[in-house]
Amino acid sequence: MTRIVLFENIHPSAREVFEAAGYTDITTYGEALSGDDLHKAIDGAQVLGIRSRTQLTADVLDKVPNLKAIGCFCIGTNQVDLDHALSMGVPVFNAPFSNTRSVAEMVLAEAILLLRRIPEKNFRVHQGFWDKTAEGAYEARGKTLGIVGYGNIGSQVGTLAEAAGMHVIFHDIEAKLPLGNAKATASLKKFLAQADVVTLHVPGGEATNNLINADAIAAMKPGSILINASRGTVVDIDALHKALESGHISGAAIDVFPVEPKSVNEPLDSPLRGMHNVILTPHIGGSTQESQENIGREVADKLVSYIRTGASKGSVNFPELRYRDINGIARMLYIHKNMPGAMGSLSSLMAKHGINIVSQRLQTKGSIGYAMTDVDSAIPDEVMQELQNSEVTIRCELIQP
Ligand code: NAI
Repeated sequence: MTRIVLFENIHPSAREVFEAAGYTDITTYGEALSGDDLHKAIDGAQVLGIRSRTQLTADVLDKVPNLKAIGCFCIGTNQVDLDHALSMGVPVFNAPFSNTRSVAEMVLAEAILLLRRIPEKNFRVHQGFWDKTAEGAYEARGKTLGIVGYGNIGSQVGTLAEAAGMHVIFHDIEAKLPLGNAKATASLKKFLAQADVVTLHVPGGEATNNLINADAIAAMKPGSILINASRGTVVDIDALHKALESGHISGAAIDVFPVEPKSVNEPLDSPLRGMHNVILTPHIGGSTQESQENIGREVADKLVSYIRTGASKGSVNFPELRYRDINGIARMLYIHKNMPGAMGSLSSLMAKHGINIVSQRLQTKGSIGYAMTDVDSAIPDEVMQELQNSEVTIRCELIQP
């Protein structure tokens, strides 16, 4: 029996995946636990599922020596001590793509609303003013959408925008295959000068810090629109505020902020608050019912695949081996110290017990090696015990379908 413990109200789609695969020992918690409550809840767990609020520190992980895998049912994984999990031979999985479509749809909707100056008009009608005018309102059709960062989300935004009749250009630091009629532009400044709407889909971090600063904003077309649903640090908010006040930028939609409130009770501190053609949202670009359901499925699928076959593809901390059917009678997963002789001692052990290896794959990451060995006879417990007792072994598992 594999004991699975899930925290933080993970979508029921995860349970469906586990149950369909025959794993029924599932305990769910609606909230994130900590301290003794968390220690009690994870006792004996082999699979842990969390979202962003449960902290799986080294101390916590040490309380679950039989842990096989961790699923982060979200995008980020910094709530887990990934190195410590790796040193225990525990892969960590997440869901990097499940909310791509949700972000892309929101961005296209915002581009259309801002081109029509709807946020401003909505505000005026709420105040009782009937400003029935076409001034400053444009169709999306025929306008140019500029995408900075043509990765998973950026390329989806481009596909949706073309369906709405927009021209799509993009700027990326890597060579990317353009979808549809999208065109790459190498120089950021030239790119910014062409786009009616600029949308940002780059990663956060040093390299993109204030990528859209006062100079970049000055290079944008007069009257253009800026959308940021990537990371708050990518835009210099004060420079954007000035450009909105001067009218150089006619509207903006901002979903992410350099400093974001930690809870519903903490106010957002931003000079953009109260500006009429600015849409402000609380980092919800990827937050939809569909994305939660997709995340539940995607992470549970990865966990099931790992437990059943050892496939670690998509793990954020672990040597990656792709899914492959078991070739023979049994499969041994051998997680070991990445040092000379580790594989040799495995082969010698098999030979000593007359077990024939029919296929073998090895991948290493830092100090850890991960070998998947298929054999054409059953592997007795004593072999597993002998391997587990070896100094180079971190963990070994037997899969006998
Ligand atoms: P991705 O990794 O698939 O794509 C990022 C792209 O940006 C890559 O093609 C990369 O080559 C490019 N890039 C990196 N540095 C660049 C630079 N300096 N200039 C131009 N291009 C550059 O990432 P994905 O999944 O598309 O996510 C994009 C962003 O969206 C990330 O910052 C992510 O954290 C954020 N995000 C926001 C959500 C929200 O709720 N608002 C939800 C999901 C993701």
